[in-house]
Amino acid sequence: EKGGYEHFMLKEIHEQPDSLANAIRGRLDFDLGSAVLSGMGTSPRELAEISRVVLIGCGTSLHAGLVGEYAFEDLADIHAEVQQAAEFRYRNPIIANRDLVVAISQSGETADTLAAVREAIQKGAFVMSLCNVVGSTIARETGRGVYLHAGPEISVASTKAFTCQVAVLLMMALKLGRGRRFSREDGYKLAREIESIPELVARVITQDARIARIAEDYAKNEHAFFIGRGPMYPVALEGALKLKEISYIHAEGYHAAELKHGPIALLEQGTPIIALAVDIPGKDKTLGNVEECRARGARILGIVTEGDHETAECMDDYITIPRCHPLVATIPAVVALQLFSYHVARIRGCEIDQPRNLAKSVTVE
Ligand code: F6R
Repeated sequence: EKGGYEHFMLKEIHEQPDSLANAIRGRLDFDLGSAVLSGMGTSPRELAEISRVVLIGCGTSLHAGLVGEYAFEDLADIHAEVQQAAEFRYRNPIIANRDLVVAISQSGETADTLAAVREAIQKGAFVMSLCNVVGSTIARETGRGVYLHAGPEISVASTKAFTCQVAVLLMMALKLGRGRRFSREDGYKLAREIESIPELVARVITQDARIARIAEDYAKNEHAFFIGRGPMYPVALEGALKLKEISYIHAEGYHAAELKHGPIALLEQGTPIIALAVDIPGKDKTLGNVEECRARGARILGIVTEGDHETAECMDDYITIPRCHPLVATIPAVVALQLFSYHVARIRGCEIDQPRNLAKSVTVE
């Protein structure tokens, strides 16, 4: 059932070009330069009235929401914010009737997310879900939303669900963006970029053996820092979560600008810094932060854009992703980090599919 792979996690990482193709298929309208997401069940008028999007989730799904926040603001010109589901529920959230609440959950059973959904419905919000498991509790209780179609995710560490969540959020932002920020022509261009995601991810996966070799040099460390800016900031958080949960290395994700406000005190000779240095706005600033880390003896693994040799040369090691739209780039970038974490954990002899203390769905609050 692992299809010849040593672990479900590796199988699911490698499956991503297919799962993403399934998540995207039939959902792009190139004539309109928009996305067709019928499960959203909204009329054009309702869509035009949405004034704020609140994204809720836990763990990896929360990180997908953080990418979504950039997408809704940047592509759709709609105020967006992300809240950890438990926090949303207990802070007495302010909900107006033109707010759209999007609950993100692979399993559709996470207790905190479900409780937040119930709270939002009770407060009269317009609630939608983004689930993978068809007929799951969150999908049923929200009544509307978009399924990921990623296929069953067995490995405890979420991989293909994350990339499909981001792909669907980009399509939601595209749909909301048409009629606001987006002309048909711009919508068409973005739709083409989204269509190419499976191919972009496949190009990262061809580097698997190289990434496995790079991982050899990072597997002995007990600490690691992931840094990024803009949409690469949530990717840094997700990279750190992946590494810590399966390899038990203490990993932290930081906004690149935050390092010098404290964490830089922890850097020693050889401390790994994984820098999301993809060629998007803000890259030069991130490179400045990389230099600050190098001056303290850190070892730098860069995620860089193909053909950006100058940036690759700033790194001790690097993995490339194809050149693409900055928001789309979050998907291949996270795949590079999934493979890196997987190989580090494998080299360390960890129980990759069933990390200690973790369960696939967290049904207690
Ligand atoms: C991490 C991971 C968890 C889940 C979280 C939410 O790899 O899998 O952080 O993302 O427990 O689960 P869902 O998406 O099922 O609500």
